[in-house]
Amino acid sequence: MSGTKLYEGKAKILFTTDDPHILLSRYKDDATAFNALKKGTIANKGEMNCAIASHIFQYLETQGIATHFIKQVSPNEMQVAAVQILPIEVVVRNIAAGSICKRLGLAQGQPLKQPLVEFFYKNDDLGDPLITDAHVSMLDLATPEQVTQLKQLALDINHHLQTFFERCNLILVDFKVEIGSDANGHLLLADEISPDTCRLWDKAIADPTARILDKDRFRQDLGNVAEAYQEVMKRVLATIS
Ligand code: C5P
Repeated sequence: MSGTKLYEGKAKILFTTDDPHILLSRYKDDATAFNALKKGTIANKGEMNCAIASHIFQYLETQGIATHFIKQVSPNEMQVAAVQILPIEVVVRNIAAGSICKRLGLAQGQPLKQPLVEFFYKNDDLGDPLITDAHVSMLDLATPEQVTQLKQLALDINHHLQTFFERCNLILVDFKVEIGSDANGHLLLADEISPDTCRLWDKAIADPTARILDKDRFRQDLGNVAEAYQEVMKRVLATIS
């Protein structure tokens, strides 16, 4: 049962519940890219991403990562802890792809020497610009302690996700996470982990287009978008936590 709509994002809607500490997150089939300049739907995406994210949140919990996930309550809905989302999108990259290639002239697919953590200011009007620690401090987006915690948490999540996706025969190229602060000030992994928020390449395929199993298929009009999500879901759900 859902209560009042609290917030509608591009891919999910958050509802209140009878418990002020618990929210209901409903995953949508809507897909957007390039700060919503490109819009569409991916058949069954809501259910697929909800299933994938539920499984991965539970896996990460077993590895000691605190998440907002409580339980999946329907094919496209999960209960989550009510948190204050920090206005920072935290991106971790293992291989160069997407915006870093444009920004720094790196070749798509070039492995990075070590995982790179980047912060983006979560602000649609500004197009989510890349920011430094100094900007985070200047804009009061997080405390210096939270910045240190965010970076470590992002690297820990990357480590566990790499291990998990390796078992799915998938390469974790990069991903974005959002972090929330609970009533006690503890940082929890929030939002979602799915092919909307991760670049995932099929390890068994060398062809640079055919191996893409994530939202880049939608962004770049590569076709077989829902099929790619389906494939990721199949492998994720078959991988024991
Ligand atoms: O576009 P960019 O290369 O910076 O994206 C890095 C990673 O963050 C990709 O996996 C992308 O799917 C994810 N991302 C996201 N939401 C955004 C921006 C990026 O999930 N608003």
